[in-house]
Amino acid sequence: MFKNNPFADLALVLPAAAMQLFVIAMILLIIVSTGLDMIHKKNVIYFFRNAKKAKKSAKTELSAGKKTAVILKTVAHDIATTSELGLGKRRLAHVLGMYGTILFWIASVALIFNYTDGSIAPTYVTVTWHVGALMTCLGGYWFWFFLRVDVSAEAHPWYRIITADLFVLALLACATFGLAWSYTQFSDLVGLSYLFLILYIISNLILFGGVYWSKFAHMFYKPGAAIQKNLAEADGSRDNLPPPADAPEQFGLGIKREQPKHY
Ligand code: HEM
Repeated sequence: MFKNNPFADLALVLPAAAMQLFVIAMILLIIVSTGLDMIHKKNVIYFFRNAKKAKKSAKTELSAGKKTAVILKTVAHDIATTSELGLGKRRLAHVLGMYGTILFWIASVALIFNYTDGSIAPTYVTVTWHVGALMTCLGGYWFWFFLRVDVSAEAHPWYRIITADLFVLALLACATFGLAWSYTQFSDLVGLSYLFLILYIISNLILFGGVYWSKFAHMFYKPGAAIQKNLAEADGSRDNLPPPADAPEQFGLGIKREQPKHY
């Protein structure tokens, strides 16, 4: 199954151009919805105004080289490993899901644009598509069933669904139905394969059509915020926050009674 290119089979009944147009439409949906979200929340205006204000209290002027070094370090550490989530399961689950999704999307584009014309896709591309989907499922279901704050800290049951869950659920639906579609197509279960294909298309429409209402855009906002935070740290402006206290961090024994997990 890992060698199966499900889009190649689909190209026998649907023109490749239709699949390519679908991908382009999904990319446009991300751009337009994220733009609308920024206009609605005014978060980018706030972000730049805050950065300008903080610059006035900078203690040192960063050279272009130093700025580049800070940005590269942020990309390699904070963003690439989602260091914001600390060490532990939460970070591991996120990294699995994040890289899984990136691989799944890149392989989808490669398969749809290069291997729906009758040419055979190299095994590493089809394997990347399936492994990416599996990693997304692994990280995503782990998060959904065990790590979500509502479940792990607020004692809500895993099946309680709120609007904020739109992103993770649509993402999981895409990966799950994509795998189910490939498996049933590979196993010649024709009826079921069409059912999973339709569910795969619907979940993609929900994932990309729902960008405006979901947490999708965090993948753009979070890196921007991490870069700004580290630049503010390096130039001493610290986002206009007071410097850390020089007294030792002694909070008494009470703080050890329970792990902080009620948000
Ligand atoms: C393809 C890129 C990414 C994908 C697919 C992705 C996926 C996800 C998912 C599914 C969630 C759970 C959402 C929820 O609370 O329901 C999440 C949460 C989160 N993401 Fe991402 N993410 C991506 C990129 C990033 C980046 C680049 C950062 C930071 C630099 C980041 C930081 C976070 C944080 C801090 C949370 C909250 C986690 C928690 O509550 O445990 N994500 N992400």
